Amino acid sequence: MALATMPRVSLCALPTPLQRVRNFEQALGSDSPRIYVKRDDLTGLAMGGNKARKLEYLVADAVVAGATVLITEGAVQSNHARMTAAAAAAAGMKSALVLDTRNGDAVAGNLLLDHLFGAEVHLVAEPAERAEKMLAVAKALSERGETPYLVPTGGSVPIGATGYVRASLELADQLVEAGEAPVRLYAASGSLGTQAGLIVGAAMVSATYEVHGVAVSHASSPMEERCAALCDETAALLGLRQRFSAKDVILHPQFVGEAYGIRTKGGLEAIRLLAQTEGILLDPVYSAKAMSGLIAHVRDHTIRADDAVVFLHTGGSPALFAHGEALLVEA
Ligand SMILES: Cc1ncc(COP(=O)(O)O)c(C=O)c1O
Repeated sequence: MALATMPRVSLCALPTPLQRVRNFEQALGSDSPRIYVKRDDLTGLAMGGNKARKLEYLVADAVVAGATVLITEGAVQSNHARMTAAAAAAAGMKSALVLDTRNGDAVAGNLLLDHLFGAEVHLVAEPAERAEKMLAVAKALSERGETPYLVPTGGSVPIGATGYVRASLELADQLVEAGEAPVRLYAASGSLGTQAGLIVGAAMVSATYEVHGVAVSHASSPMEERCAALCDETAALLGLRQRFSAKDVILHPQFVGEAYGIRTKGGLEAIRLLAQTEGILLDPVYSAKAMSGLIAHVRDHTIRADDAVVFLHTGGSPALFAHGEALLVEA
């Protein structure tokens, strides 16, 4: 199926801006490249973020399947879960979320919003308990006469990744308009759907940039292989002939810190620096760790001062409110 004919429901305000952050560049010093932020924190749905683009295709698939309720899973501060609940509301469906409380269970940030969107929330203690609970929730909903649609972790299946193939076309137009040929695009990588979509999209538009994923969690299996497989499946879904291997996937694992969801010093610096130079908010779990990677690569001269780079801002700011004062104390 071609990109143009894939069923899609409109959930986003597009195109999101591509914004050069000159004050931020200045703060990084004379070695800074030109830095453009692709503002997918402003996708428009429920406080924004990358998942909205994936959900445009996933919700369309759910509609085709006759679904009445979207079920998904994540950590208790999952942006994906919050946006799935909002997307369900926008599409006239219900939502059920299975969330693990390994990083706490305060009804704040994304979890607060989940309730506002009317989601049925099921808490479990550990990530490993989520899959079984999802199936149990789906069964219970079916018995109540609902038709559930399971949105896989992070929406990172080919249908969801298609959102970032489409985003790559949008970005290509903006780069032509800006007269820029960036060498790298940085983005936070978790369940890998965003990165896979970006890689397939970059190949489709013959982009000048390499996609650099910054990992936000420690991997239990090689992420490059998993991402390449998702690239292949996404390309196949879209009728593209190109195939991918682990060599096509660039992932930086060294900015995760202790674990998923745990703040890092570099991430907190990135939050403060972008907020105080540009008025743009990052989040401690995803976008700040990705930006800390970009900053490190500017400082160690991996990126040259006369180059341009794009930072895909994937959103996540509601999580800031779940971290509270610690963001100031530890910064
Ligand atoms: C704010 C934010 N950035 C980045 C990501 C990572 O996207 P992906 O799961 O597609 O790798 C997520 C995923 O939850 C997210 O919420």
